[in-house]
Amino acid sequence: MIRSLLATATIGILAVTVTLADQSKKVVIPASPTSANNGQQMYTSYCAPCHGTDGKGRGPVAPAMKTQPTDLTQLMRNNHGKYPDTHVVAVLEFGSELSAHGSPNMPVWERIFGNMNRTHLQEKQLRISNLAHYLESIQER
Ligand code: HEC
Repeated sequence: MIRSLLATATIGILAVTVTLADQSKKVVIPASPTSANNGQQMYTSYCAPCHGTDGKGRGPVAPAMKTQPTDLTQLMRNNHGKYPDTHVVAVLEFGSELSAHGSPNMPVWERIFGNMNRTHLQEKQLRISNLAHYLESIQER
């Protein structure tokens, strides 16, 4: 009982903080509760602020960012017509290549999803795979 109460409390205060091009400014994206089964809902809550509702990289936070968010509808086109599922999962687990090299623009989602539910560790894998499937569904063909 106490455990699940704690988990709920954690979700409430969880947020993604991003430093903007103007280093003195930060933007906080509240990590509001979503269903791990609903890729679209997670995308809208966690990704759309930067990548845009349509995935094209023009979310409300984008103009203030130094590195522009990737157009996520072109992942398949940019990979010789094959959707790069393994790559997307790796980016969500470990961060993008750019963020790995010191630019904290693209959050490491595995960490954030892990903090959302510390009792069911498989849940973060479910979130990541459902997000990857959702991104596949928005590819421009
Ligand atoms: C704070 C803004 C921000 C949020 C929120 C965000 N991203 Fe990103 N994302 C970026 C930026 C900036 C880049 C391009 C620079 C980079 O790769 O680090 C990027 C790049 C990516 C890439 C391409 C990386 C590559 O190497 O090909 C994927 C895939 C991606 N994001 C998926 C997501 C998903 C899924 C979510 C939501 C769970 C999300 N992003 C949330 C800013 C964000």
